[in-house]
Amino acid sequence: MKFFAINGSPRRNCNTAQLLDKSLEGVKSVFPEATAERIDLYDFPFHGCRSCFACKRINGKHYGKCAQKDNLQPILDEIVQADGVILGSPIYFSDVTGNMRCFLERFMFPFAVYSKTEVVNHKKMPLAYIYAMNASEESSYQIGYHDLHDHFEMGLSMIFTKPEHLYVYETYQFKNYSKYVSDVFDEKERKQIRKTRFPKDLESAFELGKKIAIQAKQHG
Ligand SMILES: Cc1cc2nc3c(=O)[nH]c(=O)nc-3n(C[C@H](O)[C@H](O)[C@H](O)COP(=O)(O)O)c2cc1C
Repeated sequence: MKFFAINGSPRRNCNTAQLLDKSLEGVKSVFPEATAERIDLYDFPFHGCRSCFACKRINGKHYGKCAQKDNLQPILDEIVQADGVILGSPIYFSDVTGNMRCFLERFMFPFAVYSKTEVVNHKKMPLAYIYAMNASEESSYQIGYHDLHDHFEMGLSMIFTKPEHLYVYETYQFKNYSKYVSDVFDEKERKQIRKTRFPKDLESAFELGKKIAIQAKQHG
């Protein structure tokens, strides 16, 4: 069994990365022998879809497959064969990060067929999405993040499977708040949240990973 966690944060050890690592621990608790690997999308240069349409060309050699030859291609080849994929991203201006979007264009578009009859046979593995953000739960609903992200998840649902998700609010953004202009935040409160709530978020990420592994088991 092979599982991937895709880190859409440029930070390799912060909120999203830690949550994704925990989710992979959850996967391993179900499948100790499984390969569970984190891919950091900011570790290598790559682009989003270039709209070349090689993946849609009739009788084309790249039909149903991304034709871009770059650092992402060999990784993508493995991810589309995975038994489960856990995506994770900070929220940047209400959305997932730019690199995550670029990744998703490449992950999804080759399987999105402009046809009423034609399909691309591909693996429909269980998916999960972890969102990490500054906003509180209350303000995330007020701003409309959930509607936006549900809409975004619809594409994944149509192509793969409906993702499970985890929202992580009021993350600890800086190692030392006093070094940055950040007086909209109450550092003491954030520290407290970090101490008391973040460990629970990590537990939820662990459970999420377990869930994906169990779904993968049911998928066979
Ligand atoms: C460029 C940028 C834009 C951001 N925009 C938002 C936003 O729109 N809403 C929000 O709640 N947090 C926003 N944040 C905060 C991050 O989502 C938050 O700190 C997140 O936990 C960072 O994840 P990381 O620790 O894994 O890097 C933004 C951060 C950056 C750097």
